[in-house]
Amino acid sequence: MNVIEAIEARRSCRTFAEKQLSKETVKELLRLGTLAPSGSHMEPWGFVVIQDPEEIEKLGQEAKNYALYHLAEYPHLQQYEKSYANPKTDIFFGAPTLILAYGDTNSHFWAIDPSLALENITLAALEMGIGSCFVSNSEPFCATRELKDRYHVPGEYAFVTSLIMGYMERPAAHPAKRKEAKIFNEGI
Ligand SMILES: Cc1cc2nc3c(=O)[nH]c(=O)nc-3n(C[C@H](O)[C@H](O)[C@H](O)COP(=O)(O)O)c2cc1C
Repeated sequence: MNVIEAIEARRSCRTFAEKQLSKETVKELLRLGTLAPSGSHMEPWGFVVIQDPEEIEKLGQEAKNYALYHLAEYPHLQQYEKSYANPKTDIFFGAPTLILAYGDTNSHFWAIDPSLALENITLAALEMGIGSCFVSNSEPFCATRELKDRYHVPGEYAFVTSLIMGYMERPAAHPAKRKEAKIFNEGI
């Protein structure tokens, strides 16, 4: 699979085979992720990797409850109120591996650079038959001091987003559809 094929084949994956990613595979994906460019070459990314299904499930429940309680502070999440209130909702879709990405706020590019690393990871993972999906529903809780302390995330690191991963049961049925890119200037 070349890079263009990977970009064209990538879709968010929300159903996973039971097989777990090995630690070596996760480390290799993080290595490939962090080959991404970074502003002023500061490499301001840091990650938490969770591979215990019960821990991921518990974190998902905590994240839902926290989001529900603090919904007024997160207008973009208010559309998900019913889903958060539903005990059956699993915001991490039973994924066997969860990566939480944090950015060092000493860098101006603390949010951009970890996002670039995660996108590298999604594309490299695809080559290995591993599907992934960004999950930002977890944001309010994963940004808390409580959660950061639990996983030894230094205070100056702010939560960027999370990525669920697991071996795909089958390739995505359809390629992504997008609107034509907006080009604001003339001449192309
Ligand atoms: C920053 C970001 C946050 C996202 N958060 C969620 C999420 O919380 N839950 C979810 O199911 N999908 C989430 N997604 C996946 C999007 O829904 C998905 O990328 C979009 O629908 C386009 O579909 P595709 O990725 O299959 O092309 C997120 C994607 C991004 C980039």
